[in-house]
Amino acid sequence: MLHPDVVAALPVVRIGCAADEDGLASVIPDPGRRAWRIRNAESGTEQLLVAEEGSRIVGAVSIRWNGECDPPNPWIYGGEVEEAWRGQGVGSLLWREAHRACSARGALAVSLDVDSTNARARRLYERLGYEVVGPHAHQWVARDPETGAVAAEGVAETWLMRCRLPVVGPASPAP
Ligand SMILES: CC(C)(COP(=O)(O)OP(=O)(O)OC[C@H]1O[C@@H](n2cnc3c(N)ncnc32)[C@H](O)[C@@H]1OP(=O)(O)O)[C@@H](O)C(=O)NCCC(=O)NCCS
Repeated sequence: MLHPDVVAALPVVRIGCAADEDGLASVIPDPGRRAWRIRNAESGTEQLLVAEEGSRIVGAVSIRWNGECDPPNPWIYGGEVEEAWRGQGVGSLLWREAHRACSARGALAVSLDVDSTNARARRLYERLGYEVVGPHAHQWVARDPETGAVAAEGVAETWLMRCRLPVVGPASPAP
């Protein structure tokens, strides 16, 4: 359990939007990528969550609703916490909010992939309840900031991971 002082100091997680474009530079430095993620969030195909300390964005993660590589599960990607804020529970907070958002839309599980060399992120996911499903060839793209057109692309070796979510039933009537 976290110490009460630590809980009080944690950033707040909220839904991100177009007005966050500049503030997100701290965690999504590539302008093309940033614009693309905001566009997806604004169109409703994704949800963007940001962790905010005061008026400063210190972390972000995106949820793609269409299942991406492991349908029908929502696909969580692009989790990033500003370096100075790592190891203080911000990543866990972002993921827990992402899981809540997925449960609220009726998802029974969520999926993501993690670079085979990223031991720290994998540890976080395992602690949150993810299990490795198997190896995954992740196709990445870099986009033009103005047009969103693909500027470069490639394949990275990753692990596909999946986490079952608790079933959220209808609220029970008060006794
Ligand atoms: C992966 C990443 C998002 C995790 O974010 P984070 O905020 O550091 O995550 P947490 O703080 O919740 O957990 C990380 C560690 O902090 C520890 N921790 C969590 N809360 C803590 C607290 N209150 N006090 C001290 N330590 C704490 C956890 O035990 C964990 O330890 P471990 O790394 O030894 O297992 C972050 O490291 C990051 O942005 N990395 C670069 C980008 C990246 O790799 N993204 C994932 C792509 S798949």
